[in-house]
Amino acid sequence: MSSRIALVTGANRGIGFETCRQLLEAGYQVILTSRNANKGKEAALKLPGVLFHPLDVSSPGSIATLKEFVASAFGRLDVLINNAAIHYDTGQQVTAPDLEIVQEAITTNLLGPWRMCAAFIPLMRKNRWGRIVNVSSGSGSLHKMGSETPAYGITKAALNALTIKLAKATGLDGILVNAVCPGWVRTDMGGSAAPRSVTQGAASILWAVQLPDDGPTGGFFRDGKRLEW
Ligand SMILES: NC(=O)c1ccc[n+]([C@@H]2O[C@H](COP(=O)([O-])OP(=O)(O)OC[C@H]3O[C@@H](n4cnc5c(N)ncnc54)[C@H](OP(=O)(O)O)[C@@H]3O)[C@@H](O)[C@H]2O)c1
Repeated sequence: MSSRIALVTGANRGIGFETCRQLLEAGYQVILTSRNANKGKEAALKLPGVLFHPLDVSSPGSIATLKEFVASAFGRLDVLINNAAIHYDTGQQVTAPDLEIVQEAITTNLLGPWRMCAAFIPLMRKNRWGRIVNVSSGSGSLHKMGSETPAYGITKAALNALTIKLAKATGLDGILVNAVCPGWVRTDMGGSAAPRSVTQGAASILWAVQLPDDGPTGGFFRDGKRLEW
């Protein structure tokens, strides 16, 4: 068959951009998406062969437009990487929250991936094949959850729960849905003190993309190793 079609959200910079680069290198047809068209086009120019399409994951209309494009251009989607996220809210106290920030985080970090999955799972089901990677974080682990970064941590914990539910719902459809933590990575979000490069962070994601058909679904992984919820 022709190359697998892979779509990455929030891919104009950081881990999303590097994930596109590694997917391209691995032979996928890559759709790089970005909420800012200029930034997205500029990023795509650095990766000859990738396609750019605008996408704001907080906008149902933007998701619908993208779905129409993918359905008419390819008739399928094989790999969906829900990477876009906001508000690593280090300055915020859970006891005195700015609930607007919390709401924005829910809209982008949870409802964004959820809407994307609802839009694209039907295209994967048609082919009885798919890989979905929800880019999560150790901050969403319940077993070692602290009080810090409440909006971010709670939305990533909810994304993990969504991952389990989607995996259960698609278990017979040839679709594997997993949550992946890229580790603490040097990006605008991770900051310059982070120990890991974007190369390592994206490699953690590629592992879940390249799983064999009998690979795990509904799990939480970093570097191919299972994490505790
Ligand atoms: N860096 C870390 O240490 C670390 C650790 C654990 C997990 N993660 C996760 O890894 C993923 C990527 O993180 P990163 O460090 O690469 O973050 P980043 O450098 O802050 O990049 C975030 C990307 O998401 C995009 N984005 C934000 N809101 C969006 C929306 N509504 N629609 C579409 N795109 C949107 C941003 O676009 P703009 O350029 O337009 O803002 C940007 O491209 C996130 O899910 C993050 O939670 C990161």
